[in-house]
Amino acid sequence: MNVRYKDPSLPVDVRVKDLLRRMTVEEKMCQLLQQTIGKDANPENIGPDNPFNPLVGSVLSFTEGAKARNAYQRAAVEKTRLGIPILWGYDVIHGWRTGFPVSLAQAGSFNPDLTERLSRVAARECWADGGVNWSFSPMVEVCHDPRWGRVVEGYGEDPYTAGAFTAAVVRGYQGRKPSDLAKPGHVAACLKHFVGYSASEAGRDYSYTDLSERALREWYLPPFEAGVRAGARTLMSSFNDITGTPAVANRRILTDVLREEWGFDGFVVSDWGAVSQLKDQGYSDDPEEQTLAALLAGNDMDMCDGVFQCIPALVASGRLKKADLDRAVARVLTVKFELGLFENPYVPERPTAETCQLPSDRALALDCARESIALLKNDGLLPLDPKKVRRIALVGPLAESYHAHIGSWSAMVAADATGASNYLEQVRAFFPKAKIACEKGCGIVDDGDFDAIERAGAAAEAADLVLFACGEEGWQTGEYKSRVDIDLPGLQDALLTRLVATGKPLVALVTTGRPLAIGRLLDHCAAVLYLWQSGARAAEAAMEILVGLTNPSAKLPMTFPRAVGQIPVYYNAHSRSRSWAKDYTADLEDALPDGPLLPFGFGLSYTTFEYGPVKVSRRGGAFAASVAVTNTGKRAGKETVLWYLTDVWATYTQPVRRVVGFEKIELAPGETKTVRLRIDPLRDLSYPDTEGRRVLEAGEFRLSASLHSEARFRFEGL
Ligand code: BGC
Repeated sequence: MNVRYKDPSLPVDVRVKDLLRRMTVEEKMCQLLQQTIGKDANPENIGPDNPFNPLVGSVLSFTEGAKARNAYQRAAVEKTRLGIPILWGYDVIHGWRTGFPVSLAQAGSFNPDLTERLSRVAARECWADGGVNWSFSPMVEVCHDPRWGRVVEGYGEDPYTAGAFTAAVVRGYQGRKPSDLAKPGHVAACLKHFVGYSASEAGRDYSYTDLSERALREWYLPPFEAGVRAGARTLMSSFNDITGTPAVANRRILTDVLREEWGFDGFVVSDWGAVSQLKDQGYSDDPEEQTLAALLAGNDMDMCDGVFQCIPALVASGRLKKADLDRAVARVLTVKFELGLFENPYVPERPTAETCQLPSDRALALDCARESIALLKNDGLLPLDPKKVRRIALVGPLAESYHAHIGSWSAMVAADATGASNYLEQVRAFFPKAKIACEKGCGIVDDGDFDAIERAGAAAEAADLVLFACGEEGWQTGEYKSRVDIDLPGLQDALLTRLVATGKPLVALVTTGRPLAIGRLLDHCAAVLYLWQSGARAAEAAMEILVGLTNPSAKLPMTFPRAVGQIPVYYNAHSRSRSWAKDYTADLEDALPDGPLLPFGFGLSYTTFEYGPVKVSRRGGAFAASVAVTNTGKRAGKETVLWYLTDVWATYTQPVRRVVGFEKIELAPGETKTVRLRIDPLRDLSYPDTEGRRVLEAGEFRLSASLHSEARFRFEGL
């Protein structure tokens, strides 16, 4: 083999260097561009006015299947001078064909192993079925604001939990060893959006974000760092600006932190159109300025706005140095080599049925749903005995919806709703002897149809049990889906009032992609099951919980506010002055009780768990903690032990508590297990100061396990 970059026995950096030295500036520029196929009227969409460019670095949102994808790839590999394969990107967020729970629901399972496994399936399906090599996920942004539509895409409000899930997705997509990435069915992960986009003011999408160094270090950066440490090969920069500097042009974040501090050596892609949107942010409307700002900050590939096409002119005028261009191109090529694309540019062309939704995939989707659905209230009505329920009224706008369960970023799942099921089908399956009446009662938006509410009320009156299928449709969360309110949308609240008036036992089944203000549901329903958007098999898993075939084990990955005016409310807030003072003063007419409606980590089971004392002992430079947990009820159950740490006295104010570890265990009735935690002072007891430096102070600490049991210990220094 005399073409060195084609020789797989050579190290990747040697191949990259060899290829780079053969490339023209034009070819290099193309490696940093993306085109889309069939997506909107954006200027980079391949069509009559914009022919496919076989030199392009990446194509995204391609949905025409492996065969068509291979044909385009063949043009790149066999019909261009250097034969550089194209990288195929797609928003595979929570599954490709098999519909898994949305990320926020996955977080509630507190079971990252399940997430690793579902990400493995998603990678295999998108690779085999669509020829995808690069998934634009996980979205790892910590979020304090349920109004923000994209809260559904992340792993909740806790940086530690989000980091654990981020690492699980990276392992699932890319494999556990760097060499796995080149194996069939593995795809590169993309941590997004770097960074702080979730801090948009008032949850309004694409809004300003004012982020102190401490906020970045405490909340927003840690999940990204966890993903980089797990080996993620790409990141996507974000739309927001970070305290004045747009993220896409933010050298401190994209280079100083990401590359110099964390040692990241993959590539960064901008978010859709973010480079040209520097104009909207009032930064510059000159494409050359925009390109220079993005490239020199550390942004390598330009998603879809074509601005980087000015690169040859910038090189010719000397404004862009060859070395700066080469650095970005080398990073993109590196990932292509690591993916094995030069050796295996094509994917096998097999029918979807052979590669997707295999029985084991569907079984996994059910397992994930079982562990993602949280029981938030049970006055003793559940579990139900299906033999004793004779007449059921299934009421609510989501009674027959599939999409509500599939969720917002459904990739190819929605196109294939056959894999999903709805409440009505599952109520029929689980209560075969019962007489079932199904009434929507109202639409998901206010349609003014009060007669429908009355029909639903009449159906409820004739039943022994009312299942209220409420919440939000799949399209009501996601990008550009922020809400000013977090109540049940449409006339659902009026419908609830009518159902409550019947006096019948009421079970709320809430499907949604965000924490909703569900105070009235908790007040008036005998039981509340929070399904989130738990995927194709969500309705089935919910029925299993209703009848006790599955013991619920999910906990809330976000704090639930009582009302929108309480936002932001999150468990790891900083301690405040006048800690005795109430949040809302009693002389205000709209006074709310103190504290959130439901805390982070809340979730019920059909069994009970008891925690023994937390014990902490010094082990050399570290500490060892343990707690014994016993299942004191009559059913087997799963319990997530969350370890919370409080730094009692510190020079800089500290969160009232923060999670430093968790473990989900399964216990038979009467069984006890001891859960252990290693506390590494440098990692767990230190905190960022106002400059972002980590500080480790001697002092007093409190450690509790799931808020049940607590120990105090002293750290005297290393
Ligand atoms: C979103 C990204 C997404 C990209 C490609 C953007 O608008 O912010 O999360 O990956 O589109 O679809």
